[in-house]
Amino acid sequence: MNQFLPHLSLLILVTVFTAVKPSGLTSSEATAAVSRFQEYLRIDTAQPSPDYAKAAAFITSQAESIGLESQTLELVAGKPLVLLKWPGKQSSLPSLLLNSHTDVVPFETDKWAHHPFSAAIDSSGRIYARGSQDMKCVGMQYLEAIRLLKKTGFSPDRDIYITFVPDEEIGGHAGVEAFVKSEIFKKLNIGLVLDEGLASPGPEYRLFYGERSPWWTVIRSKGAPGHGAKLYDGSAMENLLKSIEAIKRFRTAQFDLVKAGVKAEGDVVSINFVYLKAGTPTPTGFVMNLQPSEAEVGLDIRVPPSADPEALERRLAEEWAPSSRNLTYEFKQKVPVVDIYGKPAVTVADSSNPWWSLLGEAVKKAGGKLGKPEIFPASTDARYFRELGIPAFGFSPMANTPILLHDHNEFLSKDEYLKGIEIYESIIKELTSYHGSTIDEESKAEL
Ligand SMILES: *[C@@H]1O[C@H](CO)[C@@H](O)[C@H](O)[C@H]1NC(C)=O
Ligand SMILES: [Zn+2]
Repeated sequence: MNQFLPHLSLLILVTVFTAVKPSGLTSSEATAAVSRFQEYLRIDTAQPSPDYAKAAAFITSQAESIGLESQTLELVAGKPLVLLKWPGKQSSLPSLLLNSHTDVVPFETDKWAHHPFSAAIDSSGRIYARGSQDMKCVGMQYLEAIRLLKKTGFSPDRDIYITFVPDEEIGGHAGVEAFVKSEIFKKLNIGLVLDEGLASPGPEYRLFYGERSPWWTVIRSKGAPGHGAKLYDGSAMENLLKSIEAIKRFRTAQFDLVKAGVKAEGDVVSINFVYLKAGTPTPTGFVMNLQPSEAEVGLDIRVPPSADPEALERRLAEEWAPSSRNLTYEFKQKVPVVDIYGKPAVTVADSSNPWWSLLGEAVKKAGGKLGKPEIFPASTDARYFRELGIPAFGFSPMANTPILLHDHNEFLSKDEYLKGIEIYESIIKELTSYHGSTIDEESKAEL
């Protein structure tokens, strides 16, 4: 931890002298906002042993200084979830939930130019830290936007909740999954959730309205063992390799659609081989003249909401793991593609959903632009809300920024960070002043 301390005084100087002044924030507000962001980034919340207590204490103190109601829920021991509230003038309106996770993924310190918890700012204004993109930026931007809105005297019509949740990076089981099942959650009457998105290398912000469901699958093969010199049918390896060839052809066809620009990454079924396991071990390696009687392969399959899950599972059962070839399959994880009402677990992202229109309008008013709505290629906590039929968009306002989540030297430029605060100011204003009902509310009423 100590290795980055000597930089701190230098950092503070850099912060002071290079602070830019975007339209909405004064230069001193910008400087203060950046240093609060750095403070949050410096808390070690890396999996597998995040300092959640420190993060919760920091968030709570921020909430206090802004004047937000706060409570820390411990739905699972040792996994605090901080729930903040800015009450609206009309609490009967469905509320807005701004969600972010406090944990970050681990890192290899020696691959970084600056220590991942230094939050060092380089001469071009890049803030380097694990979590600078994923997603401590967003959590702090929510708070900074509210701080500014409160200063200007704005007060929302609907209630706003802000959650800082644990364990997203390890599946969210002790975080949002537990939260959505709690009695507290049921009383929040949430109309819309905003959660994380991805950086955009281009000038348009990315917006996600659904995500692919992970199907982590193991295919096991059995076959007659035999001498390594003998050619025969029905060995475990041969039976499995036939499947691997078929899966590879399917993978290539899906990938070709992406390469040809016919489909986006989030709209195809992706399959990647994550392990192969076979052979008869010896102390120094494997027996070389024996064909083993068992073999298995692990697959990370991601299924888009547009796919037909039944057809895909049929293909798995009949083509990739047929019992006729002595193969079996097992799901290690199989997230449903549909919500609890049996509908695809996506949030409507066209003008028939007023939330979507308002969001686009708000971003535009703040001088930004949203790209075409996308399916998130991996998983986020947003899926737990969508599974309940609650509309949720994934959005992290980072344009002109390389996608560095989970990568070495993750950074976010100070200007993009500050710009994002203004984007959320505009979003909160727009979404909390809207009084109409949404199609999702209507369709829920129908059920
Ligand atoms: C499957 O296993 C059975 C029983 O061991 C064997 O008779 C049969 O030939 C095997 N089939 C294939 C395709 O390997
Ligand atoms: Zn994340």
